[in-house]
Amino acid sequence: MSKGVKPFSRITGLGVGIPENVLTNADLEKIVDTTDDWISSRTGIKERRIMKKGERTSDYCIKAAKEALAEAQLDPELLDAIIIGTISPDMRFPATAIYVQEAIGAKNAAAWDVSATCSGWLYSLFMADTMIAAKRAKNILVIGAEMLTPMVDWTDRATCVLFGDAAGAAVVSEAVDDRGILSVVIGSNGTFADLLYCVGHGTAGYATPSGQENGNRFLRMNGNEVFRHAVRVLERTAKEAVERAGLEPSDIDWLVPHQANTRIIKATAERMNLPMEQVFMNIHKYGNTSTASVPLAIYEARKEGKLLPGQNMLSVVFGGGFTWGGSVIRF
Ligand code: UT7
Repeated sequence: MSKGVKPFSRITGLGVGIPENVLTNADLEKIVDTTDDWISSRTGIKERRIMKKGERTSDYCIKAAKEALAEAQLDPELLDAIIIGTISPDMRFPATAIYVQEAIGAKNAAAWDVSATCSGWLYSLFMADTMIAAKRAKNILVIGAEMLTPMVDWTDRATCVLFGDAAGAAVVSEAVDDRGILSVVIGSNGTFADLLYCVGHGTAGYATPSGQENGNRFLRMNGNEVFRHAVRVLERTAKEAVERAGLEPSDIDWLVPHQANTRIIKATAERMNLPMEQVFMNIHKYGNTSTASVPLAIYEARKEGKLLPGQNMLSVVFGGGFTWGGSVIRF
């Protein structure tokens, strides 16, 4: 009998949707006053993927969903729910999950979106695990998808170099043995809501009808302050997720964290006493893909043969709101 709590649910399939367009640091040098050296040394990012005009977030969700369902060998009609963590939906409504439901033929699923910034996928995983534990569902498709390109201010060098577009999907089903989701913890703190936000088409912009022209549609971030809080909260969340899983930090084989900044990732690994050889990073290829970052990283880590059966993986994420989440999954 392995150490740790008994899981209620497990991931049976993973998939991704990644735009073809690559935007390198050299490309950005031509758009804003920045350098490859600054971006690489301060963030770890070398390039990111960018959606094309005319595409929708759901296009990438559908691609990711089909791949995840194929791996899980699950008929879409057996899905009880589709939950998408996103702050860049196709439209104000209906939810992006509705378009995914229709496209994949999941006619027995309830479908909705979750707004929790970078933590959206983990918040959705929390819901899926809880619903399965409560025996209200058997199979749930959990997607994290972000197409931030339309809300990035391409004249603001402090933010436009950071983000990329992607979607990642996981099929979550009932656990059958001691492998699966051992813990998911989530949290928020609204005190710092004005450090990272986008007014967009929200009611907060209603008083200024020309809001769309005067910059309301753009994402704004005080990166420095966010950084400071992220390091502290991620350590606390990582420790909580490990404890809830019934494990010690030394039982963790892999840290597959939110890919926002290599310096944040290194600080988290250090505080968890994990050597960098046990940390998975793909930030150099994709930048910060917000809520897609963790499922995309898990997908790629597994493709590289890094999450072997029986190994314990810790994921942690921090985003605007603030919101945060952590999870320990045994593969
Ligand atoms: O995923 C959601 C959560 N988000 C995060 O976790 C992001 C957290 N924050 C960060 O990752 C970092 O704070 C950033 C990467 C955003 C910024 O790094 P930093 O080391 O905190 O830089 P800074 O904002 O303190 O700026 C340092 C300098 C400034 O110049 P001065 O005032 O020292 O002359 C900036 O104007 O770097 C300048 N700068 C740039 N220079 C070249 C800011 N952006 C750029 C740029 N290229 N793109």
